Amino acid sequence: ISAMVSSALAAPVLAADMTVGFSQVGSESGWRAAETSVAKSEAAKRGITLKIADGQQKQENQIKAVRSFIAQGVDAIFIAPVVQTGWEPVLEEAKDVGIPVFLLDRAIVVKDKSLYMSVVTADNVLEGRLIGDWLVKQMNGKPCNVVELQGTVGASVAIDRKKGFTEAIASTPNIKIIRSQSGDFTRSKGKEVMESFIKAENNGKNICMVYAHNDDMAIGAIQAIKEAGLKPGKDILTGSIDGVPDIYKAMLAGEANANVELTPNMAGPAFDALEKFKQNGTVPPKVIKTVTRLWLPADAQSQLDKKKDMGY
Ligand code: AHR
Repeated sequence: ISAMVSSALAAPVLAADMTVGFSQVGSESGWRAAETSVAKSEAAKRGITLKIADGQQKQENQIKAVRSFIAQGVDAIFIAPVVQTGWEPVLEEAKDVGIPVFLLDRAIVVKDKSLYMSVVTADNVLEGRLIGDWLVKQMNGKPCNVVELQGTVGASVAIDRKKGFTEAIASTPNIKIIRSQSGDFTRSKGKEVMESFIKAENNGKNICMVYAHNDDMAIGAIQAIKEAGLKPGKDILTGSIDGVPDIYKAMLAGEANANVELTPNMAGPAFDALEKFKQNGTVPPKVIKTVTRLWLPADAQSQLDKKKDMGY
């Protein structure tokens, strides 16, 4: 990083002259689409040229995109890493040519933290914990069998969201996770996996709550619950993360119960940090945290109104 700092100081770059390459995960969820659209508007606001590569949920595509950004000599690279391991070689290539890398919304596991400048992320363990705490309170000692729809296997957010929820229910033996499987953060997979959970659990009658690592999977699950002749939000409670408009609509219809909001504006704080770094060498904090909040049906209308201006 220090070699990067001196080169940033030697030649300050104006935002309007900057090109940033963004290796995006894909378009698996409504939240992801909003993150991409906010990244575009945040870049436009600053006059930054943003090149986006869609990784279609595959790390190899993302690595190829990063290599291509390096070859093009961009001023910085943003990566929303689909999984948390396997990034060292390509990050070393970026470091060797002095291109700063920012991670958006998901973290990575690397020994050498200087391989990236900062990660802009929520506290993903807290997200899971908030849903778990809500459920513990809601159950008030009553038994509850939970089915879990996990995010993409190997993604930091899926690992952390599982951890937070599991920790929150750990000391309440009345609440148990009875089934857990990945729905890959998509609506269709969430529905499919929920259908199989329902079949396996006495047509859903053994299930008290579905904990989905994102809203799209929860919305798929809600559909599956309805198709099984049960009432989502009542017969089977739901808790999920993101805050996409459809989950607040489901809350207003009484079909969803708890939601943790994740801001889609991950690029804005990264652009701010990058601009300062390129202007005067200010090294940003390693982790730039976004705000995490739990919302309940009483908040759904105001959340829905708020979302209109947020890239959805
Ligand atoms: O990394 C953030 C997660 O990725 C979002 O919660 C989910 O919707 C997306 O696919």
